[in-house]
This record gives sequence, C-alpha cells and structure tokens, in this order.
Amino acid sequence: MRTNLCGDLDSSRIGSTVILCGWVNRRRDHGGVIFIDLRDRSGIAQVVADPDYPEPFAAADSVRSEFVIKVTGVVRERPEGTQNPDLATGMVEVLASSIEVLNASRPLPFQIDEADVGEAVRLTNRFLDLRGERLQANLRLRHRIVRFMRHFLEAEDFVEIETPILTRSTPEGARDYLVPSRTHPGSFFALPQSPQLFKQLLMVSGFERYYQIARCFRDEDLRADRQPEFTQLDVEMSFVDEAAVTGLMEDMVRGLFREVMDVDLPDPFLRMTYAEAMRRYGSDRPDLRISLELVDLKDLMADVEFKVFSGPANSDDGRVAALRLPGGNSLSRQQIDSYTEFVKLYGAKGLAYIKVNRVADGRDGLQSPILKFLPDNVIEGIIERTGIVDGDLLFFGADRAKVVNEALGALRVKLGKDLDMIEGDYRFVWIEDFPLVEYDETEKRWQALHHPFTAPAPDQVEQLENNPGAVLSRAYDLVMNGTELGGGSIRIHHPDLQRRVLDVLNIDADEAERKFGFLLRALDYGAPPHGGIAFGIDRMVAMMSGSDSIRDVIAFPKTQKASCLLTEAPGDVDDRQLRELGIRLRQGVKEAVKNSASSESGED
Ligand code: AMO
Ligand code: AMP
Repeated sequence: MRTNLCGDLDSSRIGSTVILCGWVNRRRDHGGVIFIDLRDRSGIAQVVADPDYPEPFAAADSVRSEFVIKVTGVVRERPEGTQNPDLATGMVEVLASSIEVLNASRPLPFQIDEADVGEAVRLTNRFLDLRGERLQANLRLRHRIVRFMRHFLEAEDFVEIETPILTRSTPEGARDYLVPSRTHPGSFFALPQSPQLFKQLLMVSGFERYYQIARCFRDEDLRADRQPEFTQLDVEMSFVDEAAVTGLMEDMVRGLFREVMDVDLPDPFLRMTYAEAMRRYGSDRPDLRISLELVDLKDLMADVEFKVFSGPANSDDGRVAALRLPGGNSLSRQQIDSYTEFVKLYGAKGLAYIKVNRVADGRDGLQSPILKFLPDNVIEGIIERTGIVDGDLLFFGADRAKVVNEALGALRVKLGKDLDMIEGDYRFVWIEDFPLVEYDETEKRWQALHHPFTAPAPDQVEQLENNPGAVLSRAYDLVMNGTELGGGSIRIHHPDLQRRVLDVLNIDADEAERKFGFLLRALDYGAPPHGGIAFGIDRMVAMMSGSDSIRDVIAFPKTQKASCLLTEAPGDVDDRQLRELGIRLRQGVKEAVKNSASSESGED
C-alpha cells in the first residue's frame, strides 16, 4: 500500500514520489494551503495540500483528527522559515497529488497526547490512548528490554518453558485468583502467583537452566507499582550458589542498561546485608540516591526522663533513632507539622526534632521542646553520634523498631524528594542475609520472609527449631532507587530440611501434602541443588522509561480496584454458566457488585 514510512523522509528523498499511509495527527488550515501532520509507527511527515490540485485539496479539507489516509505526492524541501529542526522529517514535506480517505474517525473523547486527561477516560479508550507518543515509546522500550533478556539468557544456554496458568495455589503470600472447574464441581484452580513450584520441578527434571516471561496473578491491595496481573522474568538454575545467580543476573542488567539505555552501571553492584539496610535506611529497599541516614540512639536513652524515648530504649523490640537533615534548621513550623502528620501514616506517634543553631554552644545552641528532658551527657552523645553541624535539624523516631523503620525510612525518602536531595540516576544494590522468617503478630506464628522454599544459611540450620528468628536465609533482592526489581534465593533441595522449615512455619504434614505435596515428593527423587530469581518486568520498564506508574508500561492495565475499564472485566455471568459450575451467588452480592462497578475510577 505504501512506498515509505513517514519517519523515513529526509532531504535525500527530495524529488521522489512516495506513497504514505497513516493517521491525521493534526490538520492546519493556513488560509489557502492545508497542512496535515501524517503519523505512522515511525513518526510524522508533513503533507501539503495546495488548492492548485483541487482533488487532494478537497480531500484534505474533509479529513479530521485520526482519519486514516493514503497520500501520494512528491517530496520537496520545506520553504525557508517553515523548517522544523526538532522533527526528524522537519526539513521536507510531501506535496500531495492524491489523498484517499481509508477510514474516518468519530470526534475523539480526548486529544491524543494531551497532558491533562483523566486516567479513567484514557483507560476506557485505551486503544486511542496507546496511539500517544509516550505509551508507544514505553511499549517499544518494553519490547526491547524483553528481547534483550531473551537473547542474553539464550546465549547462556537457558531454555524457555511455559508453566500452567490453571493450577494450584502457590505460596507467594498474596490472595489467589480462583477459577471454578466445571468438570469438577466445587473444585477450583488457582492462577499462579508465580511459577515458583514449577520451576523447581523443572530443576528436578534436569533442565538445569530455565527462564520464562511469566504472567503472575495476585489479588492484593494495588498501588502505583502493583497490578493484579503482572509479568516476571522468571529464572531458575541448578548447581549454583548465590554468587552464581546474582553474578549472572547482574551481567544481564548491566548489559541491558548498556544496550537499551546507553548507561554504564558499576561492576560489581553494591551489596548490603538486610541488617545494615534496616539500620541505616529503615528499609530493605533503600533508595541510595538519597544520602540521608538513620543513626541509632537506643543505648543513650535508657535512663532519660522523656518516656517517649526511654520506653522503646528499654524494650527488646524497641528502637530510638535520629535522622539528620543537613540545612534543615530552615524548615518552617508548618513543614515540620506536615512531616509529623506524614510519619503518623506509618504508625508513628509523633516526630520529635531538634534544631541546630550553634553546635559549639552545646545545649544552648540547640532548640527543641524535648531538650529539657535530656541530660547533658545524652545531648553530647547525640551531637557526637549524628555529626550535626550548624543549620541542621534532627528528627527522632522512638517506638517498636518496625514502626521507627517504616516511619523514618519513608520520611527519609520524602525529605529527599521534597528537598531535591536526589543524586544520580540509577543506584542498584543487592540486599542479602535476610532473616528466614519473621514473627506475624496478628497470626501469632512465624512467616517466611520470602517463601517457604528458601534455604536457610547452612551454618545456622541447627537454630531452626529453638531460635528461628535468628536464622538468616540464602535469599537476595535486587533494589534500584528504592524499588525492589527482583528477588530470589537458593532453595531447599533436601526433603528433610524442607519439612523442618515447614514445621517452623506451622504448616503440618497434611496441609503441606495438600498444598504442595507434589514438590515434596519431587524432592525425594534426586533434586539437584538449585536457586533462581524473578524480576518484575513491569517495574523495570516503568523505571527505565521514567514512568510514575506501571500502568504506563502495560498495554491493557487494570485500575486501582483491579478492573479493566476497557473491557469492563470482571463482569457478571449468566445464571446458566453459574449453574454449570455448581455456583450460586450469596444473597446481596449481586447488588454489591453493581454498586461497586458504578463507583469505579482509574485514579491512583
Ligand atoms: P517476588 O514475590 O519477590 O518473588 O516477586 C518478584 C518480583 O516481581 C515483582 N512483583 C510485582 N510487580 C507488579 N505487580 C505486583 N503485584 C508484583 N508483585 C511482585 C517485583 C518483585 O521483586 N517466586 C519468587 C521469585 C523467586 O524466588 O525466584 C517471587 O515471585 O519486582
Ligand atoms: P509529647 O510529649 O507527646 O508532647 O511529645 C513531645 C515531642 O515528641 C513532640 O514533638 C512529638 O511529636 C514527639 N513524639 C511523640 N511520640 C514520639 C515518638 N514515638 N517518636 C518520636 N517522637 C515522638
């Protein structure tokens, strides 16, 4: 149908006749002459319809935004003064000798590429939204990223294997999406939260190096970086240790950034233990572009009169820490109040602070309502440990360690962003030496920090039963700019050890047999030592494209409420379908479904 793509046209084509096809990006009537910006997948070309050629001129007069047209014409140099050096094709234009309308378009619900369009209307008309330059670029970037991963892994002798979507529950800790079975009334498939168990089985089966661009399904509370279905680069390897997995994956990520972003990342990546990350940043996914750090003060505060500090200082799971904000003395009362409200979102009860006027004057050089509760030696200790200088401000967190970490960890990132303290583009760090399990206060039992198949550190296995909280695991997460891009571990490959870990997690033999008996059975037949990792591809593409939300790198994403505004999924089904499945909706559910559907919105 066409001889050239719009984006191909440049001065070298001047004088040649071309046929272009595409969409009317914009039509401008310059009194007498009509200009059409014609868009196809490669870019934009300017088409000129001159009244001297009445037929194409009449056609140009009739077209509107997003009509699909076919243009025949001669490429010529744009007249002096109308050239557009910002556009690849900006030095030339096509003088139309024929314009054929291939298809019309109704008036648009919104202008493509317009900045201020609500997300709901964009998602409802996603096929139009996707025509925009940004989403086109994002999905093409996504394609290049996945293509690079495939090429890299294939060169490393990995084999891509698909695993089932209709399966059993997989233990990644979220709620399952269930699919009722017609052939087994009353029974349900679960959609996989990840291919975790299958990739381990593939290792038992001797494939040694597996990967998959795998769709995962998790029914959890959604945020800007979470979707109910998302895509992982899922990898598993046999006869490896942590260094083999993380080393190879690091090479892949470095290669990816080199090839796709033209960015050289450090070799090797930084590594940090979980304990250090929590101590310095209050988070196991620290944003290292922000230099602010937490400073421990617990031991200083045991005997102070100020109960807010001495309480947690004398409690086993308490933490007292300060966050030093260089130059923070200039924060207004109002700003401090708003940060106090901010940390309350994370469960903090308050946000004590000290303003630093002149450190040399000791107590007299500081300014804070809490100074009167702190003896001189404690104030000296604070000055020395935090390294404050004139003009700084100290924020304090005192509570259970979990609360202090979450509150000050989030405050650190917020201050960094609010006060323009972000340095560098891409800061990667491997977090390692995670605890194997953590105590779940609400459920009153130990939970796996990653998943139940993660191997404990070999030299700590004997502590499993009597001190599980002290056992470290062989897991690793790759974190970039405060986001967990990927995580994995060396797995348990001995059935006995697997049963011991399941015991700690309070998963008894019956439950284990029911949920993943097939994996336990496989471990009985010569399972090789193995380990792997999974990367969140959506998150990776979002960060590499500079998108705020992973919805901007997914062709047909779901809203915050896990629905698709385009297809209106999920939707109700015929009674007949339900009957075939042996399912009846509970009283009142139907009405509730209708009400929630009408209050749906696409906003974050
Ligand atoms: P994990 O649960 O850490 O590990 O998931 C791996 C990566 O997937 C991404 N991710 C998500 N992305 C978008 N939306 C979500 N709802 C979502 N949930 C997770 C994150 C995360 O780092 N089977 C293990 C991996 C393994 O042990 O090999 C697993 O799934 O970027
Ligand atoms: P109060 O004695 O409750 O008036 O608190 C005195 C100061 O300590 C105020 O600035 C509070 O914001 C702060 N504060 C209260 N509880 C905490 C806490 N758990 N951690 C840090 N600061 C707190």
